[in-house]
Amino acid sequence: MDKKLAESVLSIFKDCIFDGELTEYSFEEKILKYLPEDLNYDYHYGATKIVFILPDKNFVIKIPFSGRYKDKMIEINTKQGVKRKRISSYSKFTGAQSPMSVEGDEWNYCQVECDIYALAEEEAVEDFFAKTECIGFIHDYPIYVQEIAKIYEDIFYSCETEKTEYRKKYTEEDYEKIDSLCYNHNYDYFNKYWLCDAFKYYGEIKGEEFLQFIKNACVGDLHKANIGYIGDRPVIIDYSGFND
Ligand SMILES: Nc1ncnc2c1ncn2[C@@H]1O[C@H](COP(=O)(O)OP(=O)(O)OP(=O)(O)O)[C@@H](O)[C@H]1O
Ligand SMILES: [Mg+2]
Repeated sequence: MDKKLAESVLSIFKDCIFDGELTEYSFEEKILKYLPEDLNYDYHYGATKIVFILPDKNFVIKIPFSGRYKDKMIEINTKQGVKRKRISSYSKFTGAQSPMSVEGDEWNYCQVECDIYALAEEEAVEDFFAKTECIGFIHDYPIYVQEIAKIYEDIFYSCETEKTEYRKKYTEEDYEKIDSLCYNHNYDYFNKYWLCDAFKYYGEIKGEEFLQFIKNACVGDLHKANIGYIGDRPVIIDYSGFND
């Protein structure tokens, strides 16, 4: 993304509170509350990121959560004896597994996407991934953009629409071919329809290189809300997994 656009995207968040702790429970108080009043936007979030969509833009803005709230049991001494109580406490992510990091206790799932994308470029399979890039920092907190895609789950919201749409497009042999390829090489057979689209769009050789790549780079959790299309191009939009 060019510098000017990156700066204007960053400026949207200039009044937000980035104090190092951001979770799915605090983004409303720390971010949404301080966005410009006239900003027209939509947002989604998952376990590890909040994602902003602006009208007529070919990118989304992704901000990583720093951790999450976890329940744990504590023991308290009372007059009646020891009682167990469930409390919820903040825990920073430690399992964001980047192929580039040596320490292995990373929290930033957006940076994992950047790193995997860079690795995919080295192996010439980057087109399978919606490109993620860091555009800068607000109070030392990193902000990312990613190519916008149509999410698989939003196109094929029911198994029925998925089946009827694809029954017209592919034969049982097409599915079986990919199925046996995945079975024989222990590749992840995560979504047979999307995989058929990918093999058709990129070709069988590239398709297999991609399956080998995601196996080596441990890219998983490829459910229907993490895959999609940019035009006709099948892409993965969430390739940082979840490991906490
Ligand atoms: N490139 C994109 N284009 C369009 N929508 C997107 C894009 N990236 C993310 N989204 C939307 O935001 C949601 C959350 O993004 P993402 O999957 O990256 O976050 P997450 O916190 O890692 O999710 P998960 O709960 O799967 O771990 C997606 O399911 C999707 O609806
Ligand atoms: Mg996701």
